[in-house]
Amino acid sequence: MSLLISNIGRIYSPDTEKSYGSVKEWRNVSLLVEDGKIIRIIPAGEKSATAEEIIDAGGQTVLPGFVDAHTHPVFWLTREDEFIMRVQGKSYEEIAAAGGGIRNSVRRFRQAGKEEIKEVTRRRLKRFFEYGTTTIEAKSGYGLSTEDEIKSLEIINELNRELDLDLIPTFLGAHEVPDEYQSDRAAYIRLLKEEMIPLVAEDRLARYCDVFCEKGVFTVEESREILQAGQQAGLGARVHADELHPFGGAEMAAEIGAVTADHLVQTSDRGIAAMAEAGVIPVLLPGTTFFLGKNDYARAREMIEAGCEVAVSTDFNPGSSTTQNMQLMWTIGALKLKMMPGELLWATTITAAKSLNLDEQIGTVEEGKQADLIVLDIPNLNYLPYHYGVNHVLTTIKKGKVVYKRNDC
Ligand code: NIG
Ligand code: FE
Repeated sequence: MSLLISNIGRIYSPDTEKSYGSVKEWRNVSLLVEDGKIIRIIPAGEKSATAEEIIDAGGQTVLPGFVDAHTHPVFWLTREDEFIMRVQGKSYEEIAAAGGGIRNSVRRFRQAGKEEIKEVTRRRLKRFFEYGTTTIEAKSGYGLSTEDEIKSLEIINELNRELDLDLIPTFLGAHEVPDEYQSDRAAYIRLLKEEMIPLVAEDRLARYCDVFCEKGVFTVEESREILQAGQQAGLGARVHADELHPFGGAEMAAEIGAVTADHLVQTSDRGIAAMAEAGVIPVLLPGTTFFLGKNDYARAREMIEAGCEVAVSTDFNPGSSTTQNMQLMWTIGALKLKMMPGELLWATTITAAKSLNLDEQIGTVEEGKQADLIVLDIPNLNYLPYHYGVNHVLTTIKKGKVVYKRNDC
């Protein structure tokens, strides 16, 4: 199957031969795709190729499909009541302590059947293509029992096989201590290490293991123990670190060789230096800080200056960040993380892909790479974060197949 995307005004792609944030630009070109791969970038003036399917990009802009390296898409009911409580002045932690938060989602998740959760998840995943995301990392973490965590990971794996969207599964059984283990947290940690992790790894249900390392959730020592059990079973480590309090999560991530440390709003100078030294990828989630109504954002500039390659993702989940829209992360990332468009391009494509060990296949527009591409109605890269709150995606292409097309184009 071949596809020609003709009449492309501009292509912007991370320039991986240069440093983080460098952008490669082509003007007035066509793209030839065969069997899901980019075969050739055809310059203006050269005779265009023929193909079984032709898309006229109308002089618009092409980027690599976005890669969202941190999402929690498998949940049952939504939590808009908690959002209104936050509007009225209650904090995320106060709401969680009063029976809301993650444990609220867990109670609901356990009551619902696998098929009904799978169907709502399938519907909410469609939005990723609509907004230009072609690969996501997807965490479990609303089951918190062996049976319910397996249910969650099976949903992710089945949807990965059934849908065009690629989902990379992460086991997040350590998202919280569930109600029934509140008085014996050591027993829950044993269950994670001795039963859940071995089962998940043996059945190849996840590639990564994650822990919510946070005051009142899992301590640094507990998180290290759980993540190392995951590493021994073959699961790479990702960690929710230093989101609400400076807690030493980033330092621990560096020490154990985690692939990513995520959130990092309160990370110390030492934590930043340790991540840079160890090559941990910071996954920043500015939509979460925004949606929790907070004013302190992760120190992206200091991380980049220390030598970290920073990724930016949505944290899509029913509590602290309800959007699938990476374009909005560009705007919040520019305004609040002070990241430049070229850096945001890397952060939402190749660096995110690298954090999932997929940078050989996706994340740039390059001959030989998978044809995961988006066409956007933007005249240049600066325009993407500037014209905010609207969807600029005209067409989304996954492995050379059109998977979303805006109605009016
Ligand atoms: O990444 N921080 C922990 N977990 C999610 C929130 C999940 C929820 O509130 O349901 C996060 O923000
Ligand atoms: Fe998260």
